[in-house]
Amino acid sequence: MFSRITRRYDLMNHVMTGGRDQAWRRIAARELGLGAGGLVLDLATGTGDLAFAICEAYPNARVVAMDFSETILREGARKARLRDVQSVVWGVGDALALPLPDATFDGCTNAFLLRNVVDLPLCLREMRRVVKPGGRVVCMEITHPQAPVFRQLFWIYFGKLVPIIGGAIAGDLQAYRYLPDSLMRFPPAEPLKQLMQEAGYRNVRYRLLGMGTMAIHVGEV
Ligand SMILES: C[S@@+](CC[C@H](N)C(=O)[O-])C[C@H]1O[C@@H](n2cnc3c(N)ncnc32)[C@H](O)[C@@H]1O
Repeated sequence: MFSRITRRYDLMNHVMTGGRDQAWRRIAARELGLGAGGLVLDLATGTGDLAFAICEAYPNARVVAMDFSETILREGARKARLRDVQSVVWGVGDALALPLPDATFDGCTNAFLLRNVVDLPLCLREMRRVVKPGGRVVCMEITHPQAPVFRQLFWIYFGKLVPIIGGAIAGDLQAYRYLPDSLMRFPPAEPLKQLMQEAGYRNVRYRLLGMGTMAIHVGEV
């Protein structure tokens, strides 16, 4: 599905979020709290925007940008060439069975991954496994807004309008119907924090952005 929508993926992200998605990625990058730099895994990197935000936030960092769709990775690599970004390497891998040794990275990020995995606890454990003790895992994901009236408006927008906009812009109604469906199945921010704790993370916390529609969870290894 993500391979199918690669061509219009970035544009749809900007349209759906009212242009806020890049600012949220910059916030997620800063949550890594790296000092001078280090080696970071950006998992489910897609077209690479969070990997680029990490490079901007930490000029000495090197990023492994991983995704299981080769098609979308190629788009990320193309953008890196256009921007002359040389500190990102691109690799194919499944978030549920990372082809990476234990305790390799100083931090790990993911944006809009967790809703999509079939085994969320396993995915959380895999990210913890590949990060060194003391490193952080930062997860950015759409969440369930709680404010009563706004919540109803959000579901009209997200559940009804977004699939129509996605159909018009990306030419893929089904992919953008999947988006609200995947959120309905996904735990709210507080239960997600508990899942991270159960997966072995310490000092788990989260912040809400975008009027409570976006959550950034941070856990320490
Ligand atoms: C919504 S996109 C997010 C892309 C990017 N992180 C961003 O900020 O826009 C979700 C990405 O997750 C990838 N993905 C989904 N499940 C995955 C898995 N099990 N392993 C690796 N990548 C996965 C998809 O191929 C897709 O590129």
